[in-house]
Amino acid sequence: MQKVTKAVFPVAGMGTRFLPATKANPKEMLPIVDKPLIQYAVEEAVAAGITDLIFINGRNKRAIPDHFDKAYELETELEAKGKKRLLEIVRGIIPDHVNCIYIRQAEALGLGHAVLCAEPAINDEPFAVLLADDLIDANPGVTRQMVEQYSYFNCSLVGVQEVAREDTDQYGIVVSHPMDTRLSRISAMVEKPAPAQAPSTLGVVGRYVFTHRIFDHLRGIGRGTGGEIQLTDGIVSLLREQQVLAYQYQGKRYDCGSKLGYLQATVEFGLKHPELAGEFADWLDQLHASRHPD
Ligand code: G1P
Repeated sequence: MQKVTKAVFPVAGMGTRFLPATKANPKEMLPIVDKPLIQYAVEEAVAAGITDLIFINGRNKRAIPDHFDKAYELETELEAKGKKRLLEIVRGIIPDHVNCIYIRQAEALGLGHAVLCAEPAINDEPFAVLLADDLIDANPGVTRQMVEQYSYFNCSLVGVQEVAREDTDQYGIVVSHPMDTRLSRISAMVEKPAPAQAPSTLGVVGRYVFTHRIFDHLRGIGRGTGGEIQLTDGIVSLLREQQVLAYQYQGKRYDCGSKLGYLQATVEFGLKHPELAGEFADWLDQLHASRHPD
């Protein structure tokens, strides 16, 4: 069986929900405390044994390759000033054994199309997909949890969680049949159904592991919901050929594609940050007390 050593990061989205912050900057570069979202996703992948990171880039996304590249001027300056700790942080963003591959998605045709763009870098290997705006605090990381399931079942997996019925139109929704507490066999999937039409409330989160067979299916489907080539439709097509499992991950997800989720992640990660935790918690307590005087 092949090991999962490659991960795809679709980062070509427009990030319209965060305008104007995302006018010139990719949404994946928005920081949670002091680290951009994309770095959390990359660290999760590297901790799962991934050695090739494949970024599917759009226009206006120079900041992402720059972030993972060497920063000669900055490093020289930090070195000259003896700022060792900062130098370590800048140099340690990606370990030496990990490669970055950048592929340009010329047109924003949807998530399924973005994943298809990764095919030349993957060939016939299994691979993970991570959507960086789903930030998931978990130990071990969700990619590691799913790669372990892959090595056992040798089939594609989709990360899922229960969502509120009124939110089904923000998710891929899965119909599945339980195997054990965390795993179920997917029988159907639909992209962003209206609450009244949703066949369940089991929503897809931005973590996937695929066999390379997904590519043939993505090539074969047309445009779906929102006029885009949807990954969900590719998975539905794959289901006719291979089993796909839904995996209810262990961990806490923040929807950092939404302003509320982004703020929640900022507060909770701030409360755990080694430099800030105490002071920030005190300040939050004071703020709370001032808003609720009784
Ligand atoms: C994408 C997928 C959707 C999935 C979601 C998870 O949608 O198309 O199936 O539930 O990610 O975050 P997006 O949020 O990119 O519109």
